Amino acid sequence: MKILVIGSGGREHAIVWKLAQSDLCEKVFVAPGNAGTADEPKTENIDLNAEDLDSLLAFAKNKEIDLTIVGPEAPLVLGLIDLFEKNNLLCLGPNKLAAQMEGSKIFMKDVLKKGNIPTATYEVFTDPESAREFLETCDIPIVLKADGLAAGKGVIVAFSRDEALEALNSLMVEQKLGTAGDNLVIEEYLKGEEASFIVLCDGKNVISLASSQDHKQRDDGDKGPNTGGMGAYSPAPLITEEINEEIMKDIIHPTLAELKRRNINYKGFLYAGLMINEQKIKVLEYNCRFGDPETQPILMRMKSDFLSLCLKAAKQELKGVQINWDDRFALGVVMASKGYPEKYETGFPISGLNGENETTKVFHCGTKIEGEKILSNGGRVLCVTGLGGNLDTAFKNAYETTSKISWDGAFYRKDIGKRNQ
Ligand code: AMP
Ligand code: GLY
Repeated sequence: MKILVIGSGGREHAIVWKLAQSDLCEKVFVAPGNAGTADEPKTENIDLNAEDLDSLLAFAKNKEIDLTIVGPEAPLVLGLIDLFEKNNLLCLGPNKLAAQMEGSKIFMKDVLKKGNIPTATYEVFTDPESAREFLETCDIPIVLKADGLAAGKGVIVAFSRDEALEALNSLMVEQKLGTAGDNLVIEEYLKGEEASFIVLCDGKNVISLASSQDHKQRDDGDKGPNTGGMGAYSPAPLITEEINEEIMKDIIHPTLAELKRRNINYKGFLYAGLMINEQKIKVLEYNCRFGDPETQPILMRMKSDFLSLCLKAAKQELKGVQINWDDRFALGVVMASKGYPEKYETGFPISGLNGENETTKVFHCGTKIEGEKILSNGGRVLCVTGLGGNLDTAFKNAYETTSKISWDGAFYRKDIGKRNQ
């Protein structure tokens, strides 16, 4: 089979790496990919932007692609799946309407409310005056969320009233995130421990993947600004089998049912960001895709044929399917560019990339090839992922390789997976 994977991050590198291991796989094209995907067997990077839908369609038709898998949210929200399906191409991902689960916080919160799914209480604001009035008297901390896609920058957890008012000003008045901030969700601050719960849906059936947790803050001790994720591990010790069942019953199934009620049959990966405490499990967010960096440790642990799984999901044949997982833990450490998640420079040669072994894989997030060199090419640059019999061994394996890799301005957190220690 010929597969097209769309995207260029660590998630896509892991997806491509795992697909290429399948006997069913003849060739994987990646648009646009990175230096890591360029180096995988059976794989070829294609110089097409992930949001250039027309060129991607022309390519898929021309190459007679058998299955297209979309990594990031932007092409999904733009309607890539609708366009490909209209042209009779088999693909895996939610259509434009379904992708609103990530594309619009207001849509997502409304699905949760109507479906009676536990989440933070919230209000929607469409003008700055009434939002300001609300913020003058609400409980603090408080959480402000831009309605539209904002590349991970649309959520502000304000720990003081001044901070909340400043965030409101920057989102709604100064429009720092463009039109994404025209409408706001302002919601209750939730306490607890976060976990990522990712499922694969085929429009009729749903199957949960291995559990995971990521670290969103930039600095050790879960401090500093929010990022796309500085590291992740799987399984999440927090998600016992019992809790897994509870999440499927109280959150995932009711969400899919509420979508169905709106004539939306969700197909593809669905990512629930959860806040868990002794009392309750609540939804913080939904993403319409696989997580990054969660994909890297999750796929390190997958023993089943990933291509066959994706194919079954695309063809609505997930019923009765079981996924086999490696019992070991996997832990991924993101190496990032100085300045991330704000401004950063790219183009620095990376050294020490040859430290992979049976238990460690270096997934590329933002890299490119120039001549003989591999250069940094993004905020998050690499995700070094290790396997181990327990979280500590996975940690040791991942960090051993991480510590040998360097470039000008590289940094990484030293405490991935150490949340409860
Ligand atoms: P989101 O994009 O909605 O997941 O938000 C990004 C991050 O902000 C989450 O992973 C949480 O760490 C934090 N966050 C979002 N909503 C809340 C909330 N209601 N209470 C506490 N933290 C939150
Ligand atoms: N790791 C968080 C995300 O994929 O959105």
